[in-house]
Amino acid sequence: KSILLINGPNLNLLGTREPGVYGSTTLPQVVESAQKQCSSLSIRLETIQSNHEGVLIDRIHEARGDIDAVVVNPGALTHTSVALRDALLGVEIPFVEVHISNVHKREPFRHHSYLSDKAEAVICGLGVYGYEAAIAFAARSIKPKER
Ligand code: DQA
Repeated sequence: KSILLINGPNLNLLGTREPGVYGSTTLPQVVESAQKQCSSLSIRLETIQSNHEGVLIDRIHEARGDIDAVVVNPGALTHTSVALRDALLGVEIPFVEVHISNVHKREPFRHHSYLSDKAEAVICGLGVYGYEAAIAFAARSIKPKER
């Protein structure tokens, strides 16, 4: 099985960015724990962080036929990007949406997601533990595609 972990705009600043909202764990730490978790589950993990919508879309296209599940924290693209939604739907890879913060406790513009109605699951407000929970869920519930 294989999982692609996607982090969108500004998540490279994790650990230093609004620590009251997002905590003090850095993105490299998140990725390292995810790698350990996946290797213990015999899952291949690929990761990408980009501040550029098009780069994320290209990576999603490349995942077609190669990746069984996507775990995605789209950052602010959650609330703006029809293109990211279309990319995920276009490649037909099931995905879990993760937000570190509880977006529903925040500004109203964060309450709407262009992805949630198509996600297998949506996690928010668990802090960086949300990534671990999403990977555990993806690992047990998502079947590898026959290819
Ligand atoms: C976020 C929530 C988004 O509203 C915000 O734009 C982010 C991070 C989260 O992980 O809580 O960049 O996706």
